[in-house]
Amino acid sequence: MENQQWVTEALAKVQEKMTVVNKRNLGKIPYSATDGAYDDLSESFVAWWTNGFFAGSLWQMYQYANEEAYRENAEKIEELLDNALEEYMGLHHDVGFMWLHTAVADYRITGNQRSRERGLHAASLLLSRFNLAGRFLSAWNCNVPGWAIIDSLMNIPILYWATKELKDPRFKQVAMAHADTLDRYLIREDGSAGHIASFDPESGEFLEMVTGQGFSPDSAWTRGQSWGIYGFALSARHTGEKRYLDTAKKLANYFIGNVAQTGYVSLIDFRAPLGTTKLDTSATACAACGLLEIADQLTGMEAEYYRQAAEKMIQALLAEHCDWDPTTDGILQHSSHSYHQEKETEIHLVYGDYFLIEGLLRLIKKDCHLW
Ligand code: GLY
Repeated sequence: MENQQWVTEALAKVQEKMTVVNKRNLGKIPYSATDGAYDDLSESFVAWWTNGFFAGSLWQMYQYANEEAYRENAEKIEELLDNALEEYMGLHHDVGFMWLHTAVADYRITGNQRSRERGLHAASLLLSRFNLAGRFLSAWNCNVPGWAIIDSLMNIPILYWATKELKDPRFKQVAMAHADTLDRYLIREDGSAGHIASFDPESGEFLEMVTGQGFSPDSAWTRGQSWGIYGFALSARHTGEKRYLDTAKKLANYFIGNVAQTGYVSLIDFRAPLGTTKLDTSATACAACGLLEIADQLTGMEAEYYRQAAEKMIQALLAEHCDWDPTTDGILQHSSHSYHQEKETEIHLVYGDYFLIEGLLRLIKKDCHLW
C-alpha cells in the first residue's frame, strides 16, 4: 500500500502518546481533556453516552500494539460501566455506543462470557425502546418518546450483533425497521441529514423536524451527517441490503462536497450562517471511518473515490489538529459537542480520538471491527 508510511508514522505517535495517557488515567472514564488533563465520569456520570470510547481506543491499540496495559484498563472500564447497567435510569438509545466498545469488544477479542452477557443486556435495553406504531427507536429520556435521531444509527450495530449471537432475528428486524424510518424522514433529497424527527408516539404519525445539536431543524449538523454515513454503511454491512449503502453514499457525497470547501476539516454545521468558522473535527474523523467502510463495500474507481476523500480528511486532521505532547491528555483538538453550546465548541472530545485511531488503523487494515 503506497500510503502506508504516513499512516504508520502517525500510529507510532498515537502509540507513544496513548501508552502514557493510559498509565496516567487508569480506572478513569474520560470524556474531555481540559488544559491537557482528562476528567473522569466513572462516578459523576456513569451513564453518559461517550463512556465506551476510551475503552474502544484501548481495544483498538491493544489489537495493534499488543500492550497488555491497554487491555487491562479497557476491562476495568467495562466493569465500572456495570454501575450504569445496575442503575438503569439514565440509559437510553446510546447503550450501543457504551457497550459495543467495552463488553462486546472484549467478548469479540477475548471470548469473555461475562462480557457477552453485558452486551446482550445492553442490546435488550435498546430493543425495548422500539415504537411499534412509528417503527423507530425512541431517543433519550426527555419526556418526548416520539423523537428519533440520526445518532442512533451507530447504536443499532449492537442489535445486529445480538441477532447473530442469539440466532434470533428480532434484534435485526427492529434495527432495519428503525434504519428505514430514519432514511425516510431524516435524509433529504440533496444528501443532507436532519438530526431529530418528531413522531406522535401513539399513532406513529410524523409531526416535524426539530433542532438538535446543529444550527436549526433544516440545517446539516456535520456530526449527525457523519453518524448517518457510517451508520447506514454499517447497516449495509450487517444486512447486505444495497439500499443502505446507497443512502450512505448519498450522505457521503454531500459531506465530501462540503468539507472540500474548508480544507477537508468540517465546520460544526454545513448549513450554519455564513461566516461561521467553528469546526467539529470529531465529525471529520467519524465521517472518514464511514467513507472507509463504504469503500470496503465497493470496488475499483468508486471505492478509490471514497478512500481518497477519507485520506485527505485524516491527513488534514493530522496536519493541524493533533496534540502529540505526551504530558497532556487527548489527541484530536477542536471537536464540538453542539452548535448552540458555545462552551463545548472546539474542545477535545474522547470520541474524536477514537475515530482518528480507528481511521488510521482502517487505512492499513489493522483495525478490529467494533461496530
Ligand atoms: N449524541 C451524540 C452526539 O453528540 O453526537
